[in-house]
Amino acid sequence: MDTNQKLESLRVHYRMANLDISDCDAKPEKQFDKWLNDAITSHCDEPNAFVLSTVNNGRPRGRVVLLKGIHDGKFIFYTNYQSAKGHEIDSNPHVALTFLWLPLQRQVRIEGTIQKADLSLSDEYFKKRPRGNQLGAMASPQSKKISSREALEALFKTTDEKYHGVDELTRPAHWGGYSVSPEYFEFWQGRDNRMHDRIIYEKIANNWELNRLAP
Ligand SMILES: Cc1cc2nc3c(=O)[nH]c(=O)nc-3n(C[C@H](O)[C@H](O)[C@H](O)COP(=O)(O)O)c2cc1C
Repeated sequence: MDTNQKLESLRVHYRMANLDISDCDAKPEKQFDKWLNDAITSHCDEPNAFVLSTVNNGRPRGRVVLLKGIHDGKFIFYTNYQSAKGHEIDSNPHVALTFLWLPLQRQVRIEGTIQKADLSLSDEYFKKRPRGNQLGAMASPQSKKISSREALEALFKTTDEKYHGVDELTRPAHWGGYSVSPEYFEFWQGRDNRMHDRIIYEKIANNWELNRLAP
C-alpha cells in the first residue's frame, strides 16, 4: 500500500458524544473552560497546545503555541516579540486559535484581536519558568536564520556564562505574553456520518449569540 492508498483508507468514526445549543453555557469562556478541563482530565497530550494563525501581508501563517492562562476572558500565551509571529501581529492584530482534542473528537476555533499582555503578567510568568527555559528565551533570536546547531548552542552558553551567579534572571524585553480577546468561538463535536455538531458564539453588541452551523 502506498501512502496515498493508506491516506484514503484512514477513516475514524466519530460517535463519542454530541453537542446542542441547550448543552452550552451562555458564556463561551465557561464552555471553553469545561472542554479544556475535559481534555486535561482525559489525558489528551499537551491539551493547552493550539495552532495560532496570523496574517503576513495578506497571507495566512500558522504555528503551535501553548495557552498559559485565561484572564478576564482573554487567552494568554508567551513568545518572542521579535519573532515572525511578533512582526505579523504588529502589522495585523487579527488572529485565530485552533485547539484539537482528538481523543475527545473535539475542536475549538476562536477568532479575535491580540495585544501584548500586561508587563507585570509577563514578569510574573517569566519568574516561574525553569532557568534553562529562561536562558533559552533570552538567548534565542526566534525565527531568525542561524548558521548551525553549534552557533545556537554557543548563544545559549554565552548567555548562561554571562548570568552565572545571578540567582534571579530578569525577563528580556523581547519576550513576553500576548493576550487574545475573542470575538468568535466554534465548538465542534465529531458525530456519525460526518454530521458533526458545530455550535458558534458571535459577539454582537457585547452579547454572545449562539447558533448551529452545518457540518
Ligand atoms: C507543542 C508545541 C508548543 C509550542 N509552544 C510554543 C510557545 O508557547 N511559544 C512559542 O513562542 N513557540 C512555541 N512553539 C514553537 C512554535 O510552534 C514556533 O516554532 C515558534 O514560535 C516560531 O514561530 P514563528 O517563526 O512563526 O514566530 C511550540 C511548538 C510546539 C510543537
